[in-house]
Amino acid sequence: MKAVTIRTLQDIKRDKQRFCCVTAYDASFARAAEAAGIETILIGDSLGMVLQGHASTLPVTVADVAYHTRCVSRAVTRPLVIADMPFMSYGSTTDTLQNAAELMRAGAHMVKLEGGAWLFESVKALSERGVPVCGHLGLTPQSVNSFGGWIVQGRNPEDADRILADAQGLQEAGASMLVLECVPRELAARVTARLSIPVIGIGAGNATDAQVLVMHDLLGMSPRPPRFVRNFLAEGGSIQGALEAYAKAVREGSFPGPEHGFD
Ligand code: KIV
Repeated sequence: MKAVTIRTLQDIKRDKQRFCCVTAYDASFARAAEAAGIETILIGDSLGMVLQGHASTLPVTVADVAYHTRCVSRAVTRPLVIADMPFMSYGSTTDTLQNAAELMRAGAHMVKLEGGAWLFESVKALSERGVPVCGHLGLTPQSVNSFGGWIVQGRNPEDADRILADAQGLQEAGASMLVLECVPRELAARVTARLSIPVIGIGAGNATDAQVLVMHDLLGMSPRPPRFVRNFLAEGGSIQGALEAYAKAVREGSFPGPEHGFD
């Protein structure tokens, strides 16, 4: 099987098909995702919550993400591997370049950063230096304290316009992909139609080009699963079956359903 690159994902968007992303933090789960045909694996800073037991993603370090990126990247050959840049690891352009370099050396093919206009300069600096970037807008978990909780973003017209402008600006700065988390499905559809780069949704309806879920959520392991999660282990019968059921449901457009999105 040919390795997935950003060109593969752009072709999928152009052909109006959908692709899948799932988080993985170790070799065994990464191999299972690859065997299920999942195109992209995210070493998310969600590892702080699902592996380390923290209440948020904020305590995660670059060393943590680099370690898990090494575990994943040495196990798979086909999926595109995306590493999350943790909280405050991209506060300045200098820090961004240094920390992104560490994650790319660990085996990532792309780095993901949370934020809008304030990141344009760093995104430009990374992409000019050959580091593909995935933006992340909407309910960006590293800003949970600023939001005052896990609250759907972009519900009022000013916020929606800002998210749309930030998405456009990230693309113009050189981002190759965008994650949109917990925004109204109609806003996600507008952003996806406006951008030429692939948009991956989570809690953002099913009009995006792709979906991402945290591995432990789709395996039904979360004590309080968010509304946008479906337990694929229940229908897949095994970890491998769950990942295959997830990939199939995303590709055919049956996940996420209306009950997983927000107005
Ligand atoms: O950290 C993570 O796993 C993420 C996804 C939920 C998009 O950022």
